[in-house]
Amino acid sequence: MEVPEKFLKTVLVLGANSDVAKEAIKMYAKKQYFVLAASRSTDELHQFVQNNNLKEAVEVVYFDAIDFVSHASFYKSLSVAPHIVLYAAGYLKDNVEAMTDWQGCFRMMQVHYCGAVSIINIIVEDQQNNHLEQIIGLSSLSGVRGRKSNFLYGSTKSAFTQYLTGLRQYVAHRKIKVNVVVAGYIRSKMTQGLPLTESLMLEPAFIARAVVHAGNKKVLVPGIKWKIIYFILKILPEFLVAKLP
Ligand SMILES: NC(=O)c1ccc[n+]([C@@H]2O[C@H](COP(=O)([O-])OP(=O)(O)OC[C@H]3O[C@@H](n4cnc5c(N)ncnc54)[C@H](OP(=O)(O)O)[C@@H]3O)[C@@H](O)[C@H]2O)c1
Repeated sequence: MEVPEKFLKTVLVLGANSDVAKEAIKMYAKKQYFVLAASRSTDELHQFVQNNNLKEAVEVVYFDAIDFVSHASFYKSLSVAPHIVLYAAGYLKDNVEAMTDWQGCFRMMQVHYCGAVSIINIIVEDQQNNHLEQIIGLSSLSGVRGRKSNFLYGSTKSAFTQYLTGLRQYVAHRKIKVNVVVAGYIRSKMTQGLPLTESLMLEPAFIARAVVHAGNKKVLVPGIKWKIIYFILKILPEFLVAKLP
């Protein structure tokens, strides 16, 4: 598939069936960017593309974040090398369940950390792609401090955040920006049915706007309430963190 010249840039969205990713795809398309939407759920994405009249701007490709051995050939098969990469794949297993369900626990590690590292390393080490300019990762407030209610999910996000921080330094001389989006609660498939504080919920489109306008910001915490929570969490002594749920 040849990308028509009218597109300004190409964006590779990994985990593109995420509710946040789909909002970001619509916004990138509006900016006249061509999107490679990479997901396991290609049927759903084709439907999304059709429903939103995005046929020209979006190419759907199969991608499984935890099928590590496929990542090199997946990247090689892309019709065009990306300017921008968004890693949005995510998997949540309840902390209590994950303590005794190794498969669920391991899956969080694989989706948030191993899969991200595997594919992003391949992308940044492609020396032929001299227009790579930005890598954005969807991380989480859960990764800021270890807390008893969600430290398994949280520690995988923390690892992802630290990877992106180091990666930013590693690629800085190539003028590639690396943004970490540290999100609070998002109203998406992932949180459906969970008893979360309603006043803290953010919409996928709100997070997507932060993603698309990430610019040079190293760390972004969308939403004023979550910014305050983020800064408090950062400085809170552990005996107070332990009092949190
Ligand atoms: N929801 C929240 O409150 C929240 C808060 C902070 C950070 N985040 C993070 O934000 C990101 C987007 O999440 P979301 O809220 O938009 O939730 P979502 O709609 O549930 O999206 C998560 C997506 O990850 C995809 N995924 C899972 N395993 C995958 C794999 N092996 N390969 C490829 N894709 C895979 C899923 O694909 P399928 O559709 O194929 O199952 C799903 O579409 C995630 O990284 C999440 O951890 C979410």
